[in-house]
Amino acid sequence: MLDEQSPAGADANDKARADVRALRSRIAAADPATLDLLLRDARTHYGWSDRPVTDDQLRALVDLTKWGPTSMNQQPARFVFVRSPEAKAHLAPAVFEANRPKMQSAPVTAIIAYDTRFHDLLPDLFPPNPKARDLFEDNDALREANAFRNGSMQGAYFLIAARALGLDTGPMSGFDNAAVDAAFLSDTTWRSNFLCNIGYGDEEKIFHRLPRLGFEDVAHVV
Ligand SMILES: Cc1cc2nc3c(=O)[nH]c(=O)nc-3n(C[C@H](O)[C@H](O)[C@H](O)COP(=O)(O)O)c2cc1C
Repeated sequence: MLDEQSPAGADANDKARADVRALRSRIAAADPATLDLLLRDARTHYGWSDRPVTDDQLRALVDLTKWGPTSMNQQPARFVFVRSPEAKAHLAPAVFEANRPKMQSAPVTAIIAYDTRFHDLLPDLFPPNPKARDLFEDNDALREANAFRNGSMQGAYFLIAARALGLDTGPMSGFDNAAVDAAFLSDTTWRSNFLCNIGYGDEEKIFHRLPRLGFEDVAHVV
Protein backbone atom coordinates (compact mmCIF):
# COMPACT_ATOMS: atom_id res chain seq x y z
CA MET A 1 0.00 0.00 0.00
CA LEU A 2 1.23 3.46 -0.80
CA ASP A 3 2.21 5.76 2.03
CA GLU A 4 0.23 8.99 2.41
CA GLN A 5 3.52 10.88 2.68
CA SER A 6 5.04 9.61 -0.58
CA PRO A 7 4.09 11.56 -3.76
CA ALA A 8 2.73 8.38 -5.33
CA GLY A 9 0.75 7.64 -2.15
CA ALA A 10 -0.73 11.12 -2.08
CA ASP A 11 -1.82 10.70 -5.73
CA ALA A 12 -3.39 7.34 -4.93
CA ASN A 13 -5.28 8.78 -1.98
CA ASP A 14 -6.47 11.74 -4.06
CA LYS A 15 -7.76 9.31 -6.68
CA ALA A 16 -9.51 7.16 -4.05
CA ARG A 17 -11.29 10.25 -2.66
CA ALA A 18 -12.28 11.47 -6.13
CA ASP A 19 -13.62 7.99 -6.91
CA VAL A 20 -15.91 8.12 -3.84
CA ARG A 21 -17.16 11.60 -4.79
CA ALA A 22 -17.85 10.36 -8.34
CA LEU A 23 -19.73 7.32 -7.04
CA ARG A 24 -21.90 9.49 -4.80
CA SER A 25 -22.82 11.78 -7.65
CA ARG A 26 -23.53 8.84 -9.97
CA ILE A 27 -25.73 6.80 -7.61
CA ALA A 28 -27.16 7.50 -4.15
CA ALA A 29 -29.01 4.24 -3.44
CA ALA A 30 -30.14 1.05 -5.19
CA ASP A 31 -33.45 1.26 -7.04
CA PRO A 32 -36.41 -0.74 -5.68
CA ALA A 33 -36.11 -3.41 -8.38
CA THR A 34 -32.51 -4.07 -7.37
CA LEU A 35 -33.54 -4.39 -3.73
CA ASP A 36 -36.17 -6.95 -4.81
CA LEU A 37 -33.61 -8.89 -6.85
CA LEU A 38 -30.98 -8.96 -4.11
CA LEU A 39 -33.10 -9.43 -0.99
CA ARG A 40 -36.80 -8.65 -0.82
CA ASP A 41 -38.07 -11.08 -3.46
CA ALA A 42 -35.01 -13.33 -3.81
CA ARG A 43 -35.56 -16.87 -2.56
CA THR A 44 -33.42 -19.77 -1.45
CA HIS A 45 -33.62 -22.57 -4.04
CA TYR A 46 -33.75 -26.33 -3.63
CA GLY A 47 -34.34 -27.60 -7.19
CA TRP A 48 -32.50 -26.62 -10.34
CA SER A 49 -32.96 -26.34 -14.09
CA ASP A 50 -30.44 -27.95 -16.44
CA ARG A 51 -29.12 -24.55 -17.56
CA PRO A 52 -25.38 -24.65 -16.94
CA VAL A 53 -23.21 -22.14 -15.10
CA THR A 54 -20.07 -21.26 -17.07
CA ASP A 55 -16.51 -20.73 -15.90
CA ASP A 56 -16.87 -17.07 -16.88
CA GLN A 57 -19.86 -16.75 -14.55
CA LEU A 58 -17.94 -18.35 -11.67
CA ARG A 59 -15.03 -16.02 -12.32
CA ALA A 60 -17.36 -13.00 -12.39
CA LEU A 61 -18.93 -14.19 -9.13
CA VAL A 62 -15.60 -14.42 -7.29
CA ASP A 63 -14.46 -11.12 -8.82
CA LEU A 64 -17.56 -9.37 -7.48
CA THR A 65 -17.50 -11.07 -4.07
CA LYS A 66 -13.94 -9.92 -3.40
CA TRP A 67 -14.98 -6.26 -3.07
CA GLY A 68 -16.91 -6.88 0.15
CA PRO A 69 -15.03 -5.56 3.18
CA THR A 70 -13.18 -7.78 5.66
CA SER A 71 -11.36 -6.99 8.88
CA MET A 72 -7.79 -5.83 8.14
CA ASN A 73 -8.54 -6.71 4.51
CA GLN A 74 -7.98 -10.36 5.49
CA GLN A 75 -10.06 -11.97 2.70
CA PRO A 76 -9.92 -15.47 4.24
CA ALA A 77 -12.70 -17.00 2.10
CA ARG A 78 -11.75 -19.67 -0.41
CA PHE A 79 -13.98 -21.39 -2.95
CA VAL A 80 -14.05 -24.86 -4.51
CA PHE A 81 -16.61 -25.18 -7.31
CA VAL A 82 -17.86 -28.76 -7.54
CA ARG A 83 -19.29 -29.31 -11.00
CA SER A 84 -18.16 -32.52 -12.75
CA PRO A 85 -20.20 -35.70 -12.16
CA GLU A 86 -17.08 -37.28 -10.60
CA ALA A 87 -16.61 -34.41 -8.17
CA LYS A 88 -20.33 -34.40 -7.31
CA ALA A 89 -20.12 -38.15 -6.58
CA HIS A 90 -17.10 -37.48 -4.36
CA LEU A 91 -19.07 -34.83 -2.43
CA ALA A 92 -22.32 -36.80 -2.09
CA PRO A 93 -21.42 -39.03 0.91
CA ALA A 94 -20.55 -35.96 3.01
CA VAL A 95 -23.91 -34.28 2.37
CA PHE A 96 -26.87 -35.08 4.65
CA GLU A 97 -29.38 -37.28 2.85
CA ALA A 98 -32.14 -34.64 2.70
CA ASN A 99 -29.74 -32.22 1.03
CA ARG A 100 -28.20 -34.70 -1.42
CA PRO A 101 -30.75 -34.30 -4.26
CA LYS A 102 -30.48 -30.50 -3.95
CA MET A 103 -26.72 -30.75 -4.40
CA GLN A 104 -26.89 -33.37 -7.14
CA SER A 105 -29.39 -31.44 -9.27
CA ALA A 106 -27.50 -28.12 -9.03
CA PRO A 107 -25.19 -27.23 -11.95
CA VAL A 108 -22.50 -26.21 -9.45
CA THR A 109 -22.09 -26.62 -5.70
CA ALA A 110 -19.59 -24.24 -4.12
CA ILE A 111 -17.66 -25.24 -1.04
CA ILE A 112 -17.36 -21.92 0.79
CA ALA A 113 -14.19 -22.37 2.81
CA TYR A 114 -11.74 -20.23 4.74
CA ASP A 115 -7.97 -20.35 4.87
CA THR A 116 -6.66 -20.99 8.37
CA ARG A 117 -3.37 -19.40 7.25
CA PHE A 118 -4.96 -16.28 5.74
CA HIS A 119 -2.53 -14.22 7.80
CA ASP A 120 0.44 -15.27 5.64
CA LEU A 121 -0.86 -12.83 3.01
CA LEU A 122 -1.31 -9.88 5.38
CA PRO A 123 2.08 -8.29 4.61
CA ASP A 124 0.71 -7.70 1.08
CA LEU A 125 -2.96 -7.25 1.93
CA PHE A 126 -2.59 -5.02 4.98
CA PRO A 127 0.78 -3.23 4.91
CA PRO A 128 -0.36 -0.43 7.27
CA ASN A 129 0.25 -2.88 10.13
CA PRO A 130 3.51 -4.78 9.52
CA LYS A 131 2.93 -6.76 12.74
CA ALA A 132 -0.48 -8.11 11.65
CA ARG A 133 0.83 -11.47 10.48
CA ASP A 134 2.64 -12.17 13.75
CA LEU A 135 -0.39 -11.16 15.78
CA PHE A 136 -2.35 -14.03 14.23
CA GLU A 137 0.55 -16.49 14.03
CA ASP A 138 0.90 -16.36 17.81
CA ASN A 139 -2.80 -16.63 18.68
CA ASP A 140 -4.78 -19.66 17.44
CA ALA A 141 -8.11 -18.49 18.91
CA LEU A 142 -7.85 -15.02 17.36
CA ARG A 143 -6.87 -16.54 14.01
CA GLU A 144 -9.81 -18.99 14.00
CA ALA A 145 -12.31 -16.32 15.08
CA ASN A 146 -11.15 -13.92 12.37
CA ALA A 147 -11.03 -16.56 9.64
CA PHE A 148 -14.54 -17.77 10.48
CA ARG A 149 -16.08 -14.33 10.98
CA ASN A 150 -14.66 -12.77 7.86
CA GLY A 151 -14.97 -15.96 5.81
CA SER A 152 -18.67 -16.10 6.74
CA MET A 153 -19.11 -12.46 5.79
CA GLN A 154 -17.54 -13.18 2.43
CA GLY A 155 -19.91 -16.14 2.13
CA ALA A 156 -22.81 -13.72 2.51
CA TYR A 157 -21.29 -11.33 -0.03
CA PHE A 158 -21.05 -14.35 -2.33
CA LEU A 159 -24.81 -15.04 -2.04
CA ILE A 160 -25.71 -11.43 -2.76
CA ALA A 161 -23.16 -11.19 -5.60
CA ALA A 162 -24.63 -14.32 -7.21
CA ARG A 163 -28.12 -12.81 -7.09
CA ALA A 164 -26.78 -9.55 -8.51
CA LEU A 165 -25.37 -11.52 -11.46
CA GLY A 166 -28.73 -13.17 -12.10
CA LEU A 167 -27.96 -16.51 -10.48
CA ASP A 168 -29.99 -18.35 -7.85
CA THR A 169 -28.43 -19.81 -4.72
CA GLY A 170 -29.16 -22.54 -2.20
CA PRO A 171 -26.83 -22.39 0.80
CA MET A 172 -26.57 -25.54 2.95
CA SER A 173 -24.96 -26.28 6.29
CA GLY A 174 -26.46 -29.77 6.45
CA PHE A 175 -23.31 -31.75 5.71
CA ASP A 176 -20.29 -33.23 7.47
CA ASN A 177 -17.59 -30.54 7.47
CA ALA A 178 -14.81 -32.96 8.40
CA ALA A 179 -15.80 -35.31 5.57
CA VAL A 180 -15.82 -32.45 3.02
CA ASP A 181 -12.44 -31.27 4.30
CA ALA A 182 -11.03 -34.80 3.97
CA ALA A 183 -12.48 -35.26 0.48
CA PHE A 184 -11.55 -31.89 -1.04
CA LEU A 185 -9.24 -29.87 1.20
CA SER A 186 -6.86 -32.42 2.70
CA ASP A 187 -3.71 -30.99 1.08
CA THR A 188 -4.57 -27.42 2.00
CA THR A 189 -4.89 -25.12 5.00
CA TRP A 190 -8.52 -24.47 4.03
CA ARG A 191 -11.56 -25.56 6.08
CA SER A 192 -15.15 -25.78 4.86
CA ASN A 193 -17.74 -23.36 6.22
CA PHE A 194 -20.91 -24.03 4.21
CA LEU A 195 -21.99 -25.31 0.80
CA CYS A 196 -23.87 -23.23 -1.76
CA ASN A 197 -25.73 -24.61 -4.75
CA ILE A 198 -25.65 -22.21 -7.71
CA GLY A 199 -27.64 -22.11 -10.92
CA TYR A 200 -31.12 -21.31 -12.12
CA GLY A 201 -33.66 -22.41 -9.53
CA ASP A 202 -36.77 -24.45 -10.27
CA GLU A 203 -39.51 -22.40 -8.61
CA GLU A 204 -41.72 -25.52 -8.41
CA LYS A 205 -39.48 -26.69 -5.56
CA ILE A 206 -39.89 -23.68 -3.28
CA PHE A 207 -42.52 -23.11 -0.61
CA HIS A 208 -44.15 -20.00 0.82
CA ARG A 209 -41.88 -17.43 2.38
CA LEU A 210 -41.18 -17.92 6.08
CA PRO A 211 -41.65 -14.97 8.44
CA ARG A 212 -38.84 -12.52 9.12
CA LEU A 213 -38.30 -10.71 12.38
CA GLY A 214 -39.11 -7.02 12.34
CA PHE A 215 -37.24 -4.05 13.66
CA GLU A 216 -39.05 -4.17 17.01
CA ASP A 217 -37.99 -7.80 17.49
CA VAL A 218 -34.31 -7.45 16.71
CA ALA A 219 -33.20 -3.89 17.23
CA HIS A 220 -33.27 -0.96 19.49
CA VAL A 221 -31.76 2.46 19.30
CA VAL A 222 -29.86 3.77 22.28
C1 LIG B 1 -25.86 -20.84 6.08
C2 LIG B 1 -27.14 -21.48 5.62
C3 LIG B 1 -27.31 -22.84 5.77
C4 LIG B 1 -28.47 -23.46 5.31
N1 LIG B 1 -28.56 -24.83 5.36
C5 LIG B 1 -29.58 -25.44 4.75
C6 LIG B 1 -29.61 -26.84 4.64
O1 LIG B 1 -28.72 -27.56 5.09
N2 LIG B 1 -30.64 -27.42 3.97
C7 LIG B 1 -31.65 -26.66 3.42
O2 LIG B 1 -32.57 -27.23 2.82
N3 LIG B 1 -31.66 -25.31 3.54
C8 LIG B 1 -30.66 -24.68 4.17
N4 LIG B 1 -30.63 -23.31 4.24
C9 LIG B 1 -31.75 -22.54 3.65
C10 LIG B 1 -32.56 -21.72 4.67
O3 LIG B 1 -33.47 -22.52 5.37
C11 LIG B 1 -33.27 -20.61 3.87
O4 LIG B 1 -32.29 -19.80 3.30
C12 LIG B 1 -34.17 -19.75 4.75
O5 LIG B 1 -35.26 -20.47 5.25
C13 LIG B 1 -34.71 -18.54 3.97
O6 LIG B 1 -35.39 -18.93 2.81
P1 LIG B 1 -35.77 -17.83 1.71
O7 LIG B 1 -34.48 -17.20 1.25
O8 LIG B 1 -36.43 -18.58 0.59
O9 LIG B 1 -36.66 -16.85 2.35
C14 LIG B 1 -29.51 -22.67 4.73
C15 LIG B 1 -29.33 -21.28 4.61
C16 LIG B 1 -28.17 -20.69 5.04
C17 LIG B 1 -27.99 -19.20 4.85
